[in-house]
Amino acid sequence: MTMRVAVAVSGRGSNLEALLRALEPGAPARVVLVLSSRADAVALERARAHGVPAEVLAEPSDAGAWLERLAAHRVDLLVLAGYLKLVPAAVIARFRDRIINVHPALLPAFGGHGMYGRRVHEAVLASGARESGATVHLVDEAYDRGAILAQARVPVLADDTPDRLAARVLAVEHRLLPAVVLAAAAAGHPVPLSDTVESTS
Ligand code: GRF
Repeated sequence: MTMRVAVAVSGRGSNLEALLRALEPGAPARVVLVLSSRADAVALERARAHGVPAEVLAEPSDAGAWLERLAAHRVDLLVLAGYLKLVPAAVIARFRDRIINVHPALLPAFGGHGMYGRRVHEAVLASGARESGATVHLVDEAYDRGAILAQARVPVLADDTPDRLAARVLAVEHRLLPAVVLAAAAAGHPVPLSDTVESTS
């Protein structure tokens, strides 16, 4: 049976694109719905270019609107890929252990409220950490706190800038997230990945 995946986005959607490419026809999982908290998210165009229904949440805190759409598309797994708002508690309760998020650092470090985008990489560089990476984790009621399913490490280089580190991390996110979704499809629910995806750069 194909696992039916919804992806929630707020912006660029490069992780969505990586998922859409990885989950080609015949794959055990398929993106059936994209939900955006913003009407101007580039991710919406990416979804439509792949023929995937893409909808804007007029009020992202409205749990009823989420649940209605997720039910209408018979969604099994919800993936947060650059989704910047808190998912309503009623949605988390209904989809307990079936919501995952990708974060651009090695949680539990450099996560939590306000830790997103460039700020994450600035904080990593300011800390003097020698490595960073990407984390895919289960989503619960707090930002970035659910059980970790998979991580991929990248080195922090001596002359790094936030943008260069971000690009290196993003490259591994694009492999890690599809790998976790495919493992979830094989198991029927999200599972920890034993293999770590390492950076080649
Ligand atoms: C990624 O770095 C992801 O880890 C974080 O937000 C960014 C989204 O990028 N949650 P994109 O929209 O998938 O290109």
